[in-house]
Amino acid sequence: MSKVALITGAAGGLGRAVAERLHEEGWSLIVTSRSVSRLREAYGQAHLQLEADCSTVAGARYILEVATAETLLPTALAHCVGNIRLGALHRMKEEDFMSCLNANLVGAFHTLAAFVGALREANSPGSAVLVSSAAARIGTPNHEAVAAAKAGVEGLVRAAAATYAAAGIRVNAVAPGIMETPATTGVLATAAAREIAARQYPLPGIGSASELAGLMTWLLSEQATRVTGQVWSLDGGFSTIRPLVR
Ligand SMILES: NC(=O)c1ccc[n+]([C@@H]2O[C@H](COP(=O)([O-])OP(=O)(O)OC[C@H]3O[C@@H](n4cnc5c(N)ncnc54)[C@H](OP(=O)(O)O)[C@@H]3O)[C@@H](O)[C@H]2O)c1
Repeated sequence: MSKVALITGAAGGLGRAVAERLHEEGWSLIVTSRSVSRLREAYGQAHLQLEADCSTVAGARYILEVATAETLLPTALAHCVGNIRLGALHRMKEEDFMSCLNANLVGAFHTLAAFVGALREANSPGSAVLVSSAAARIGTPNHEAVAAAKAGVEGLVRAAAATYAAAGIRVNAVAPGIMETPATTGVLATAAAREIAARQYPLPGIGSASELAGLMTWLLSEQATRVTGQVWSLDGGFSTIRPLVR
């Protein structure tokens, strides 16, 4: 029987890259989006495609209910939902902050809850990987909303990893710097903006979704069975080192 992975936000830039990697590694996939037409566009007829909003309890539970009913219990979760809301704290609109919290933190909480709930019901081990951001670790101008939401994700990961370790369920996160995906099309729209963005990193450059997907695939794999409660940075050193300025 093949191993089954659930990818949320699967029509997005990172979600697609993770799907490609996991498929190459022999996983059967369940892919979700709030729009089934976006899934069709990304995957044609491949994989089990589910339209659901996993930022709600009902949406997250629906995904696991359908998967279980199809005898496709996922033992891996790659939660790739999120948005980027940039802006100085004093100017951030309430609706933008709530959208940021909802997409990045509330959805992670409900999706992870539904996933571990289904694993516990089936008495199965499993592994989840969530997505944080370099901005959760180091103060970055105008990132107050996303930093607050992603710091919450990192706390969620550590607590859930502790709760479910004895059940053989691993929970980790990755924390990228800027990546080329539809979420950053606007920010990276001009050559000058790309150049400035790339220069912010000790290892200069813009990250790619496929690079991060490789790390996420490894965290979900049998090579990482001793890894839990960790947040793995993939940010060109942005959050941890400060090279000599010349
Ligand atoms: N790109 C970067 O530079 C960067 C940097 C740091 C962290 N990240 C994180 O990486 C993850 C993947 O982002 P990405 O770059 O691949 O962006 P993306 O291409 O925009 O994909 C994100 C997906 O999340 C889903 N989504 C957004 N808001 C949602 C909500 N309120 N409820 C449910 N689903 C929602 C959307 O799926 P549907 O519309 O299809 O439902 C969207 O396709 C996110 O957690 C993001 O915060 C990205």
